[in-house]
Amino acid sequence: MASDTVFLEAQQAPSAATGSIPATFVAIPYTPCVELTAPYPSHTSFPIALTPSNKGTTISSLVGEIKHLSQTNTVRSLLTQHGGIYFSNLGLKDADEFSQFASAFGWTPHEDIGNPVRRTIHAYNVATANEGPNTQPVYPHNEFGLSPHYPAYVLFFCISEPETGGETPINNSITLYRALKEKYPEFIEEVEKKVS
Ligand SMILES: [Fe+2]
Repeated sequence: MASDTVFLEAQQAPSAATGSIPATFVAIPYTPCVELTAPYPSHTSFPIALTPSNKGTTISSLVGEIKHLSQTNTVRSLLTQHGGIYFSNLGLKDADEFSQFASAFGWTPHEDIGNPVRRTIHAYNVATANEGPNTQPVYPHNEFGLSPHYPAYVLFFCISEPETGGETPINNSITLYRALKEKYPEFIEEVEKKVS
């Protein structure tokens, strides 16, 4: 089952980026990650992968650490630098623990308005991402990309992996936009005129 929680950015101005990762989370290699192209500096991995340094980390210490990382703007800094964070081996047991983990970031819950996708609520601010037939792929999209009411952050959680398939690929829209503008400049210019 794949669930996602959607949040709006908290109403606070981010301070200077710290760039440091406290000892309770460590960066690890992650095979599916890719290197971002310009405007990102070279050797920027997308996403950055973090795992708790202590395998027996409890949900309450995870929540405490995420609160700290968020309040010190470390999360915001890592997202600015890498575009996404993959949290590995959190040991979350169910949707409720994922809800506690996700809430620890302190962001304002997004309100679904006019969402045509069927979702089932599993915990506070946690719902299935999509319940369409599993024979149909879900193509890349920005969350609520057709709505003026869209989230700043999206969190995904997988509680049970299928034997095959089931991946949730993510794109970096900044590099995608750059690539599209380079390859189809007239088309992008036309689109930009329509929305400006
Ligand atoms: Fe989506």
